[in-house]
Amino acid sequence: MNSTIFRPSRAVIIGTGAVGTTTAYTLLLRKRVAEIVLIDINHDKAVGEALDMNHGLPFVGGVKVWAGDYSDCEGADIIIVTAGASQKPGETRIDLLKKNAAIFDEIVQNITKYNQDGILLIATNPVDILSYVTLKVSGFPANRVIGSGTLLDSARYRYLLGKHKHIDPRSIHAHIVGEHGDSEVPVWSLANVAGIGLEIDEEDKQKIYDSTKNAAYEIINAKGATFYAIALALDRIVTAIMQNESAVLNVSTLLQDYNGVSDVYLGVPCVVDRTGVREILNLPLNEEETILFHKSANKLKSEIASLYS
Ligand code: 2OP
Repeated sequence: MNSTIFRPSRAVIIGTGAVGTTTAYTLLLRKRVAEIVLIDINHDKAVGEALDMNHGLPFVGGVKVWAGDYSDCEGADIIIVTAGASQKPGETRIDLLKKNAAIFDEIVQNITKYNQDGILLIATNPVDILSYVTLKVSGFPANRVIGSGTLLDSARYRYLLGKHKHIDPRSIHAHIVGEHGDSEVPVWSLANVAGIGLEIDEEDKQKIYDSTKNAAYEIINAKGATFYAIALALDRIVTAIMQNESAVLNVSTLLQDYNGVSDVYLGVPCVVDRTGVREILNLPLNEEETILFHKSANKLKSEIASLYS
């Protein structure tokens, strides 16, 4: 008789800093997977976080959480990497590149020792470049190496546009593309509500873009780190994958001949399902947006080149 071995769904989270633990907690509350494994270079920290979440299980139920090691990556559906240094006040995301790229080689090799079929979801900054590094080190196909990209920036943009227009941000269709960082590009030409373009004067547009782009700096100055909204963004990506949604999300993916851009990871709208990035959607950017998108790509490509030189 054929016997099928039942395997519960599993997400592994590498890095139990503010982003990793808030993401675990979000996945736990929303029961996105049956098993959540926390891995940290400081194992005691991961043990403490898992214990704290386990004590909430009588109120939530249905999910197993434990502090593990890399061998727990075996059979995992999704491995979320949040480990690494985070921005201090005054630092840019790119300032973290050398430090975080140095630890990524080892992290990715440790994962792929035990897992060859899962989806790698990268959140550590600079996220686009580290997703590219992950692609190279893992040897995984590009559809299974995903960066959180400009999903969070697009959420910030939609929130601000919603506030300006007095409309629920979920009903605002608008995209930030390019780098998750200082060169990100607002796609004003396609922003709409119910298919109707948004009329906003230039001064307000500038304010909304600046607030979107500088949101992380503002939050880091105020409270030291950002974690709630990025955790919800990661939860959104995990859900699109685990529930095979074919949702359109602005994640970071490998671009090849996309609006004239190749061989770099950038945030663009992608169809995300159980296979990861199933399809990349070609946004019809206008001339100004195309120029800014190329600038963003060139910035990241020169950072990648410096990393590999
Ligand atoms: C953020 O945008 C710091 O990249 C992080 O919140």
